[in-house]
Amino acid sequence: MKKVTVVGAGSVGATCADVLAQKNFLDEVVLIDIKEGLAEGKALDIWESSAINHFDTRVVGSTNDYSKTEGSDVVVITSGIPRKPGMSRDDLISTNAKIVKSVTDNVMAASPDAIIIIISNPLDVMTYQTYLTAKLPANRVMGMAGVLDSARFRSFLSLELNVSVENIQTLVLGGHGDSMVPLPRYTTVAGIPIMDFISKERLETIVQRTRDGGAEIVKLLKTGSAYYAPSAAIVEMVEAIMKDKNKILPCSALCEGEFGLNDVFVGVPVQLGGSGIAKILEVALTAEEQKALQASAETVQSLCATVDEALYS
Ligand code: LAC
Repeated sequence: MKKVTVVGAGSVGATCADVLAQKNFLDEVVLIDIKEGLAEGKALDIWESSAINHFDTRVVGSTNDYSKTEGSDVVVITSGIPRKPGMSRDDLISTNAKIVKSVTDNVMAASPDAIIIIISNPLDVMTYQTYLTAKLPANRVMGMAGVLDSARFRSFLSLELNVSVENIQTLVLGGHGDSMVPLPRYTTVAGIPIMDFISKERLETIVQRTRDGGAEIVKLLKTGSAYYAPSAAIVEMVEAIMKDKNKILPCSALCEGEFGLNDVFVGVPVQLGGSGIAKILEVALTAEEQKALQASAETVQSLCATVDEALYS
């Protein structure tokens, strides 16, 4: 029985459950939320599309009854409040820390062997907190950010160059925030270095749009943040795990010496398969790239220090 739980039936959670169901590689998707009826209503609605969208995945909703989530292979945590226009992801820290902590306790009681993917913001801090709370091995706890940030970078480059987005490969490392580190040096168009296609100035503008990609959507939506691309990114990670693909993707992972970083979750390239993170790929960085990654990790670490330690125990 292949089973995935999505915690939080807001826009990200519900869209994620819908896309997971439509991919038709799972037996069951459980959508759970604290708000009475919300997850049940959305799950039922998604499942009723199965006849038209051709999937057999059973989509089940639950109002905070974690017994329904028992035995999940993967649990996706989307819980927490999204930012409003003008807010940074970091402004959400104290509210979301409490929510994510209590959700993690409930998830672990029902599915002690699950692999957990965190989406709640500030992403890298919430992932670290979940790791400390869940007491799972580090390869089973990860945050989704790099896949989304890379997807945004690839989309903008595809538009700029008028080539298929499928031809564009890239890596975005670092924390999921203003300090994220898109890597032009590891960006290619059908294997050809990106610098052969674009001026340095134009590329810098696109890198900055990528860094501001989440905020651009928040500003347009006015209430809530992005959910279609985030959900697609989550599903790519879930699929890599459930199908044991060993797919190389940038994810927020615990660095213990890799890239000279210690005891911090930050976006790095990982090999993702059936047991979670099979390994972190320590790609060579220039001094400048290393400095940017280090600075990004330091930002994450200083934010982690602001979360009440009592919450972790
Ligand atoms: C974003 C949110 C999900 O980047 O962090 O859109």
